[in-house]
Amino acid sequence: MPHRRRPRYSGKNPRRFEDKYKELNPERYAETVAKVLASGKTPAGTHRSIMVAEILEQLAPKPGEVAVDCTLGYGGHARELLARLQPGGRLLGLDADPIELPKATARLRALGFGPDTFSPHRSNFAGLPKLLAGAGVAGADCILADLGVSSMQLDEPRRGFSVKNNGPLDMRMNPQLGQPASAFLEKIKPAALAALLTENADEPAAAVLSTALAGHSYATTLALATAIRAALPRLDAEAQDLAVRRVFQALRIAVNDEFSALDMFLRHLPFCLNPGGRAAILTFHSGEDRRVEHAFAAGRAAGLYAEIATEAVRASAFERRDNPRSKCAKLRWARKSAAQAADSTEAPP
Ligand SMILES: C[S@@+](CC[C@H](N)C(=O)[O-])C[C@H]1O[C@@H](n2cnc3c(N)ncnc32)[C@H](O)[C@@H]1O
Repeated sequence: MPHRRRPRYSGKNPRRFEDKYKELNPERYAETVAKVLASGKTPAGTHRSIMVAEILEQLAPKPGEVAVDCTLGYGGHARELLARLQPGGRLLGLDADPIELPKATARLRALGFGPDTFSPHRSNFAGLPKLLAGAGVAGADCILADLGVSSMQLDEPRRGFSVKNNGPLDMRMNPQLGQPASAFLEKIKPAALAALLTENADEPAAAVLSTALAGHSYATTLALATAIRAALPRLDAEAQDLAVRRVFQALRIAVNDEFSALDMFLRHLPFCLNPGGRAAILTFHSGEDRRVEHAFAAGRAAGLYAEIATEAVRASAFERRDNPRSKCAKLRWARKSAAQAADSTEAPP
């Protein structure tokens, strides 16, 4: 293809996401991408996979095995798993996001992982047993879930997750399903919003914020962020920013029904694993981690898991410095006993 001049933008930094042209063409602008990475940031349109070595150590994928990546995202973890499953193994990659899934699929295909080794599924991981049954898979040897949103979703203003770049207040991982955050906020009552801000984000100012925000109409992420700051006039700018982040997190969890999906997934998980199968879950806040910790402990007590992480594994000091998004990540793992049969359809009532 002939080289076309990059469009000019005024000022020092590109203001619009599309203007981050060089980062969006990583093959052509490798040097720019390397500079962005060296500064501890994530190049636009990409996602840096977190705790890859630690996850591979726990999942221990082997040639010929079946793995499931429940949160395919950019495909970074999947790519590493796929390489270790060869020859003869396969990976099923799930993601709720219909926009990013085809892109991740194309990336993995370009690396040589054909339909016999990698299959993409636009699916919520809450329905994992049904998906496995439909794919003719009795049980998996490795199951990974890297919860939350990807950098591509966060950094794309049009998806409406962004605190930094203004966009429509949407926040849906699958924009074809459910209601955007703007409609959710307009309909919710203050008491329900207060409960949600506490449960989903441990928000200390839940009462004040819920009175100020519930029932109001905010079309854009910037309009909501401005209203949050205005509701907390006595806080300094840094504390206001943290409140904005927490409210966005709480809303995102609610709009995508993230805790229900996680609870359902955790209930089914031991029954989706083959004997000796391994599961690894990466969480990013206490609401998620609490659920994983309790589900693994209950599964261990019930004899469904032979072994579980006694403590959450954290990213190394190097990774935390290198990729700030890894700072709050917690990895928990569980291993099913080698004697137990997998049953991908039944979870206890
Ligand atoms: C943190 S990213 C995963 C990044 C990926 N591990 C990588 O290395 O590129 C999380 C992904 O999970 C997806 N996701 C979140 N909740 C989901 C759910 N309940 N079912 C399916 N996908 C989900 C999001 O759409 C997002 O793409």
